[in-house]
Amino acid sequence: MATRVAMGAVFLVLVVASSSSSPALASNEEGDALYALRTRLSDPNGVLQSWDPTLVNPCTWFHVTCDHASRVVRLDLGNSNISGSIGPELGRLVNLQYLELYRNNLIGEIPKELGNLKNLISLDLYANRLTGPIPKSLSKLNSLRFMRLNNNKLAGSIPRELTKLSNLKVIDLSNNDLCGTIPVDGPFSTFPLRSFENNNRLNGPELQGLVPYDFGC
Ligand SMILES: *[C@@H]1O[C@H](CO)[C@@H](O)[C@H](O)[C@H]1NC(C)=O
Repeated sequence: MATRVAMGAVFLVLVVASSSSSPALASNEEGDALYALRTRLSDPNGVLQSWDPTLVNPCTWFHVTCDHASRVVRLDLGNSNISGSIGPELGRLVNLQYLELYRNNLIGEIPKELGNLKNLISLDLYANRLTGPIPKSLSKLNSLRFMRLNNNKLAGSIPRELTKLSNLKVIDLSNNDLCGTIPVDGPFSTFPLRSFENNNRLNGPELQGLVPYDFGC
């Protein structure tokens, strides 16, 4: 009898040990990252109510979309009346393709950790109250096609490193507090000036061949 109990205990330990190394853990890490985001946000309309951290992964949570392998590929929280700061946790959602946080009341800086989202196609943070600089790390987002950061309070210059984003098709940095000059290389040769309008301290396109005098404005 005692042996049977002991064996049962050993079995239980083995089950627990093996489940902690199963693929479900990978998606749980993404669930943990999303739940960390939830805890820092204020959510008066209850759009995050279904975000239950005890579920095996976040794939059934509202506004979260996973692929066939239970990896989080979309976060759709535009127009959700959420407030608070974004924080570094989102940088752990390395499979994310669409980050849609537009038209909320988000404050604070854009975390440099978003530069870890190598699969990101669309970064939509427009119409919030974000401050601070545009992180240079966003130049690591090689898959990025859409970057809309307009209608915030972003300051500083447009990082020259962003000219490396060869897949970028659309950028909107209008209605911020950016300064310096507008890059002209890479994809920036195709963007219309209205993508940069209403930045009172932005001086227009940089002159080719000249180092902009206000590089570090
Ligand atoms: C957004 O939340 C605020 C409370 O923070 C509330 O007063 C307001 O009615 C909400 N707006 C919408 C459109 O739900």
